[in-house]
Amino acid sequence: MNMKNRDIISIRDMTKEDIEYILKKSEEMEKNMKKNKNLLNGYVLSTLFFEPSTRTRLSFESAMNKLGGRVISVAQPKASSVAKGETLADTVKTVEQYSDVIVMRHPNEGAARLAADVVDIPIINAGDGANQHPTQTLLDLYTINKECGKIDGLSIAMMGDLKYGRTVHSLATALAYYNVKLIFITPEELKMPSEIKKYLKNKGIPYREISGIDEIGKADVLYVTRIQKERFPDPADYEKVKGIYKILPETLDILGNAKIMHPLPRVDEISPEIDKSKNAIYFRQARNGIPVRMTLLSLVLGEME
Ligand code: NCD
Repeated sequence: MNMKNRDIISIRDMTKEDIEYILKKSEEMEKNMKKNKNLLNGYVLSTLFFEPSTRTRLSFESAMNKLGGRVISVAQPKASSVAKGETLADTVKTVEQYSDVIVMRHPNEGAARLAADVVDIPIINAGDGANQHPTQTLLDLYTINKECGKIDGLSIAMMGDLKYGRTVHSLATALAYYNVKLIFITPEELKMPSEIKKYLKNKGIPYREISGIDEIGKADVLYVTRIQKERFPDPADYEKVKGIYKILPETLDILGNAKIMHPLPRVDEISPEIDKSKNAIYFRQARNGIPVRMTLLSLVLGEME
């Protein structure tokens, strides 16, 4: 499949074939890391991050380095001309002159789409506000498939901030391509947005909404999310839901063999004592960002088909 010059903006732009292809290529990439060490020799990736990031930015940079490419980056917009009042369109058009692909994170929904409309090189959305985080979803699907041996037939629970969490918005949208059952665990204030629920309904994906983890029933995966403090218009509303869910050692009795995922960073929603349990797969999940992002960069730069 030729994905040269494709922008990766939203899961909604992808077909199931696109997703399956990227997952298959990522598996091959993971087996052949060393063989591909010069694949992107001569290419430059720009990472433009207008919001904090550890995993997404560093794993993209590591991925590019492992393929022999180079990286330039703006990780602190205050140190760039954005602080002088430059528009996003002008910033990305300028960055385009210096690079072959841009990975961008921005607090505004639709920012990545706007950037893609003004530049000709591929734009990869590393998160736009509460909207989408497609590359996280691809590594999440890769992780589920690797750890559970399949995606079809699974019951997948998502817990925490399903209102503002872009990772779960992208993931739920992608899972609509599979034969899954979904369980949403949230307080009333942080429910999954109705347009995503409507999308799931149209695709015939059954979902349950519950408020307590004790009602989870049988689940193969529990995807935990951080309450997105920075997205609450009123800090008082955050205070009401802060710390509302915590996975503690005793929670494992309810979870059985369910694999616990988390896009990270966590605050207090998973106790560090869980890390050594066999349920915890979130650090392996983070590691899967490397082969998946190596694959995406190679595909959009046209060095892999
Ligand atoms: C997530 C994000 O930025 O949306 N982090 C990530 O990319 N792994 C999740 C979060 O910030 O809670």
